[in-house]
Amino acid sequence: MTLSQDVATRRTFAIISHPDAGKTTITEQLLLFGGVVRQAGTVKAKKSGNFAKSDWMEIEQKRGISVTSSVMQFDYEGKRINILDTPGHEDFSEDTYRTLMAVDSAVMVIDSAKGIEPQTKKLFQICKMRGIPIFTFMNKLDRDGRDPLDLIAELEEVLGIEGYPMNWPIGMGKELKGLYDRYHKRVALFRADSDETTYLPLDENGDISDDQPLKTNSWYQDARDNIELIEDAGNQFDMDKIASGDQTPVFFGSALANFGVKTFLETYLQFAPQPAAHHTQEDDDVEPTDDQFSGFVFKIQANMDPKHRDRIAFVRICSGMFKHGMDVTLGRTGKTMRLSNVTQFMADTRENVDTAVAGDIIGLYDTGNYQIGDTIYTGKHKLQFEKLPQFTPELFVRVSAKNVMKQKSFHKGIQQLVQEGAIQLYTSYTTGDYILGAVGQLQFEVFQFRMKNEYNSDVVMEPMGHKIARWIDPEQLDERMSSSRNLLVKDLNEEPLFLFENQFAERWFKDKYPDVTLTAKL
Ligand code: G4P
Repeated sequence: MTLSQDVATRRTFAIISHPDAGKTTITEQLLLFGGVVRQAGTVKAKKSGNFAKSDWMEIEQKRGISVTSSVMQFDYEGKRINILDTPGHEDFSEDTYRTLMAVDSAVMVIDSAKGIEPQTKKLFQICKMRGIPIFTFMNKLDRDGRDPLDLIAELEEVLGIEGYPMNWPIGMGKELKGLYDRYHKRVALFRADSDETTYLPLDENGDISDDQPLKTNSWYQDARDNIELIEDAGNQFDMDKIASGDQTPVFFGSALANFGVKTFLETYLQFAPQPAAHHTQEDDDVEPTDDQFSGFVFKIQANMDPKHRDRIAFVRICSGMFKHGMDVTLGRTGKTMRLSNVTQFMADTRENVDTAVAGDIIGLYDTGNYQIGDTIYTGKHKLQFEKLPQFTPELFVRVSAKNVMKQKSFHKGIQQLVQEGAIQLYTSYTTGDYILGAVGQLQFEVFQFRMKNEYNSDVVMEPMGHKIARWIDPEQLDERMSSSRNLLVKDLNEEPLFLFENQFAERWFKDKYPDVTLTAKL
């Protein structure tokens, strides 16, 4: 197979959802289809902590967070699929956001009883910013949910993306009869007692044949009426809009009942893009089929094995082919690195990898050489991919060293962990206090754990709770703008920002200083 043929088989995506929408259940179904797991419940068991634990970082063990499920790869119908996990719940962090920088499309799973929830919205916005295609799965159709028309309308109203229903539910909850599949022109019949799906073809009028009992069923009639409505007044299927993330194909189904998931996967694979070109700081586009190997680090997982102080740097390959033992240049330092200890992630095992191409993710064992956002490449042509965006933290703590005599290790640890992208650091304008910012609570705990284990530094963290971080143009800044309702700090790049207590405080500030522009990062 040539490189371009190989690359063309890759589909690399993440599932974005709010906790409990069904991400784990659907992932597991996909892995089942891919033959990676043989039994439903494997990923789930890991999540709930019943799985045999090996040697992951202690804090992760306690939480039952699995490292091996960070990236899951499997083959299906000639495609090689990479699913990148976007941790939710308490392990929601900047890593969750950064993972979205490494995918070519996203699958948005929505609980059809709840509609769009906050975490989905946040993750969606990052996908939207990147302009990648988003495919929607409205889950839990076996339970009573909201009116499907409502759910479609909500996509547009809340997220600003057009929804194009690929199928339509015929009943739901206890009355779930099936799915009217607009795209494949067939009806999939639901059977609560079986995994098997029977399909009925549609005639040229979009109807099933007269001898089918379903034909006279009121749920079927309802679905037909709705379909007619969306065909007249709904969005037109538009491949260009899908490609740019302005329209999302919507699939209804039930992950738990394994109903509609296979059709979803197969249709998704038809439309999902293969690896795209990546933009560099030199303003070039690197094509995935370029012979020169290149990639960037989007995540660093520390201390998976407490016996060794190793870390794994996750690299998204952007072009060319990785070969075991190859030499690459690390752009930031100019150093040559030999890629000999490299891992690829299957669902259950960490296997050594020999080759991988653009679209794939590899894990480099690292002793502290890599940082998030680093570019690696082969060849003489220097290359640096665009910077990963900075995300706006929402949670803050004041941090100091427990033992004032140990300032040195405290500063060294903080500096390194901040550089690695594990956490954001701010300094108070007035007191010089260190303030840490994160998008999820776990980041603080990991920070504390690593400071102790890697830098022998006990830290004291004083929670400050949720704050709204807004940057201000230094030209417009007057230190007297700082008040009891906000805290003036500077970030690592010496850029000033205010941490507001709440929206009220932010509004008060805006009213008082109408000419001042406040900006959020992502
Ligand atoms: P997450 O990864 O997005 O957090 O969600 P997860 O798959 O763990 O699913 C959350 C809960 O929703 C689970 O129930 C799961 O069984 C259920 N669920 C997922 N898909 C469907 C579906 O299509 N229909 C229905 N009815 N339920 C679904 P749980 O009670 O929290 O866990 P468990 O006791 O089943 O393990």
